[in-house]
Amino acid sequence: MTITGPAELTEAARAFAVRRSTTPRPDVERKALLAAPRFGDVFTDHLARATWTSETGWGDRRVEPYGPLELEPSSLVLHYGQEVFEGLKAYRHPDGSVWTFRPEQNAARFAASARRLALPELPAEDFLGSIQALVAVDEAWVPDGAETSLYLRPFMVATEPTLLVRAAHRVEYLVIASPAGAYFSDALTPVSIWVAEDLHRAGPGGTGAVKTMGNYGASLASQAEAYAHGCDQVCFLDARTGANLEELGGMNVVVVRSDGSVVTPGLSGTILPGVTRDAVLTLLREAGHDVEERDVPLAEVLDGLRSGEVAEAFACGTGAVVTPIGRLAGTGFDERVGDGTAGPVTVAVREGLTDVQHGRAADPHGWMVRLV
Ligand code: COI
Repeated sequence: MTITGPAELTEAARAFAVRRSTTPRPDVERKALLAAPRFGDVFTDHLARATWTSETGWGDRRVEPYGPLELEPSSLVLHYGQEVFEGLKAYRHPDGSVWTFRPEQNAARFAASARRLALPELPAEDFLGSIQALVAVDEAWVPDGAETSLYLRPFMVATEPTLLVRAAHRVEYLVIASPAGAYFSDALTPVSIWVAEDLHRAGPGGTGAVKTMGNYGASLASQAEAYAHGCDQVCFLDARTGANLEELGGMNVVVVRSDGSVVTPGLSGTILPGVTRDAVLTLLREAGHDVEERDVPLAEVLDGLRSGEVAEAFACGTGAVVTPIGRLAGTGFDERVGDGTAGPVTVAVREGLTDVQHGRAADPHGWMVRLV
């Protein structure tokens, strides 16, 4: 869906009827917010949405002012968690145009998540159309500072009022947008990881490979444990053996050996197939690194950290981009990763990825899609 001309809306985007806010944030206020965005705490003036019912299918596509949702207290999602979501970003390029990164991957994963949660699939053209329609209306909210972007959060919730435990007959799809800087305090400051050994995020046959609220809700107690141990982020082990690294609370994990080879947990069905993970592994392979996707035993990583065989580790995700890991701690161990600073492989792959995303480098894979 590469859009050729500036601000050329696709037919799918034009299907979203626009009702503009009568009280948008004043220019000065918006500019102040865009000057130093954090992550996830400020929202634009509008949202995109569409409604699905089992009788009529998808309809009522619109862009409207951002504001509170009206939900019946008996809405199915509030009781049984029938929800799926996505995360992607819009980037301001040096010429002022606005682009997004591999949105068709997010659309496909959103559909896969919906199937797992017995929600209706949103057609990919509606997914892409909703994003373009919203970004076109809220274009002024796309920041232009280094490493900033407009984070887009599409999600789908079961709004049917019922306490029956079954798939809803009424569902709302929404996209909200939030100007974003680094997910953690600073893009290249290494984060510390706490390995959760008792609680698990996902199990075989569960929902670990899709993006649904329950996975994140289930991570919060362990995330709190991580904070309590002075760590920034939690890492889960697999529920079957309790031996292998799986995924962090909201991002994938990659380990770099001192010989330049790279290892990351394989897509075994219990971790999220990250779009950033896939792009990063592609870039690493192209840069000549030997990349293995397989079980990654915690014991192997700890041995490697102690012997110097493991040189670097990083977290990757849409929110986190590529964030170096400087410390790995858990019950009975606390190891520095390399010299505790961002390693050269981490820095290079982060730069390679963000240069494409921010329009500072060519895009040989055709990953970028123009929005505005
Ligand atoms: C993302 O990286 O887009 C995520 O969904 C992770 C987190 C912010 C929940």
